[in-house]
Amino acid sequence: MRIFLDTANIEQIKQGVRLGVVSGVTTNPTLIVKEGHRDYKAVVKEICAIVPGPVSVEVVVEGVTAMLEQAKEIASWATNVVIKIPATAEGLEVTSVLAKEQIKVNMTLCFSVNQALLASLAGASYVSPFVGRLDDIGNDGMSLVEDIVDIYKNYNLTTKVIAASIRHPQHCIIAAKAGAHIATVPYQVLTQMIKHPLTDIGIERFFCDWRRVSDDT
Ligand code: E4P
Repeated sequence: MRIFLDTANIEQIKQGVRLGVVSGVTTNPTLIVKEGHRDYKAVVKEICAIVPGPVSVEVVVEGVTAMLEQAKEIASWATNVVIKIPATAEGLEVTSVLAKEQIKVNMTLCFSVNQALLASLAGASYVSPFVGRLDDIGNDGMSLVEDIVDIYKNYNLTTKVIAASIRHPQHCIIAAKAGAHIATVPYQVLTQMIKHPLTDIGIERFFCDWRRVSDDT
């Protein structure tokens, strides 16, 4: 399973890429606003230049014509841009046009297997089931990921499943077991994935023993 960062924070993206484990980024309007970015184009171009892989960027207009126009404009900003389109009837229509023009789509705000099936049929390159938001309303978000992966396998559908709205490291483990192609994680979850207290204790003990021997010699 690949790891994408779900953020618009430039420092976090740089750090994730430096670690050699982050191969893509997903953004959304909330994440962009949270970082105080004012110039959409400038920040998207900056992120795309840092990331060695796909960067999902959401359309922020409504209506098929306006979405198509904005999607094409955003797609022209960098070669690794993927357009995030919501899982609606309009979104499917936009996706099918963009797919025919070889513009990659990440169908976002996916909350059901049927939405995911339709996303793939419309030509989306990625689909993003929002696990945490389903958990928040008492559903089992990760079972949606499992079902989508299974159903795509049944029909050899090539759309990649991005486990999104990830809240904690356990989500990543379950997503990987379910066969999700990608988990897009907040930076804090990435750091939690790395950390283990026994690793820290082990390093401390090795260093301590090493220092003792070095002091004796
Ligand atoms: C994914 O592409 C979305 O940006 C993201 O995962 C949404 O997560 P949230 O539910 O924490 O806002």
